[in-house]
Amino acid sequence: MEAILRPDEQLRVKDLVVRFYTYEGIVKAVEKANLNLKKGETLGIVGETGSGKSVTALTILALTPLPGKVEGGSILFKRINGKVDDILKLSEEELVKLRGREISMIFQEPNAALDPLYRVGEQVAEAILSHRLPEMLDRAIESLKEELKNGNGGFSSKLQLWAYNEMKKNPDALKLKLVKKLPIIGKTISRKLNQVVRDEIIGLLRLMEIPDPERVVDSYPHELSGGMQQRIVIAIALACSPLLLLADEPTTSLDVTVQAQILDLITRLKERFGASIIYITHDMGVIAEISDRVAVMYAGNVVEVAPVIELFKKPLHPYTKALLEAIPRPGASFKSIPGTVPNLVNPPSGCRFHPRCPHAMPKCMKEVPELRRITKEHYVACHLYGGEGYGKHSDSD
Ligand SMILES: Nc1ncnc2c1ncn2[C@@H]1O[C@H](COP(=O)(O)OP(=O)(O)OP(=O)(O)O)[C@@H](O)[C@H]1O
Ligand code: SF4
Ligand SMILES: [Mg+2]
Repeated sequence: MEAILRPDEQLRVKDLVVRFYTYEGIVKAVEKANLNLKKGETLGIVGETGSGKSVTALTILALTPLPGKVEGGSILFKRINGKVDDILKLSEEELVKLRGREISMIFQEPNAALDPLYRVGEQVAEAILSHRLPEMLDRAIESLKEELKNGNGGFSSKLQLWAYNEMKKNPDALKLKLVKKLPIIGKTISRKLNQVVRDEIIGLLRLMEIPDPERVVDSYPHELSGGMQQRIVIAIALACSPLLLLADEPTTSLDVTVQAQILDLITRLKERFGASIIYITHDMGVIAEISDRVAVMYAGNVVEVAPVIELFKKPLHPYTKALLEAIPRPGASFKSIPGTVPNLVNPPSGCRFHPRCPHAMPKCMKEVPELRRITKEHYVACHLYGGEGYGKHSDSD
């Protein structure tokens, strides 16, 4: 049976289970996690360290780190061609098409994502050429035709035009490979394509509000500040207009002012590129600023999902309440959450939050609370509340 998503849905993670097989035992890192993402929406995922945020995001790209194993669930994703696929069932060949083109990811450390040995322009070019070569060839062909029509082109323009038309048919053709190896001719062939790609990169850097993009394109990453490096990483992630951008704490390593600029940039770019975003952070302030809806994770479970304003005004889960009370406020004393995040080799029985919960009841130690719907868009996994199970309501609701 073909997988189904609602018309406005981009992604649905259903009952995802991820475990790590380590010498210390089996780490039950993500246990029946559920979340969904609408088209063009920003979903914030928040939770303390070790709650399973990164493992969930990486698994959406089918990049669960070793020794992790996906042991249950599905990740339904609406592809660029409108078809819905379960990412966990895609072949490696399909995943290569998906990553970078349809889903891309930005991480906490920009310098880990950039290669110190290559210039910025080369690294952005790689993303563009690997996914958008036909479009770049079309632009180069148009420009060459224009040159020839205006009488500005000569043999070199004709040679490039021939090569690009051949490349459109088959970029790996032997004939082309041989011609590219010829001295001078090989260089001539790349000229217009290089120029078109360079123009595209400079345009993209300008969109990222990078000052002096003509200079930056030829710089090495270490010549740029952390904030500028993260803008380059975002440029690479958005170079192919992905449907979904996964951002895993992308501003944590930056200072507060730069952090605010990057958040602002991502919000504005979302409008322009129309991408859906999953934004991971442990910072409730960042969540308030960037999200449309929020999923709260605790010890491998999604414990609450709600629109951002509702979550801040009317949090239901005792853990969400504790997270909100722990936000530092001027004049108020800092209230940290008592206790520690549990060891996920032997997680607490029933509700994993019960050892830290002020409302724990005998039932909480025995039964795992299901994520239940309380109001139209508000879900919570806690025995204090009733409600319908996640995904059990009719699709027309
Ligand atoms: N490679 C690994 N090997 C073993 N356990 C792992 C591995 N990667 C993650 N885990 C475990 O999976 C759980 C979830 O980790 P994850 O990195 O998703 O947390 P997180 O919410 O992203 O935390 P943080 O806020 O610190 O980034 C943790 O208990 C962690 O120890
Ligand atoms: S299920 Fe019980 S222990 Fe868990 S959060 Fe709710 S009240 Fe607390
Ligand atoms: Mg993480």
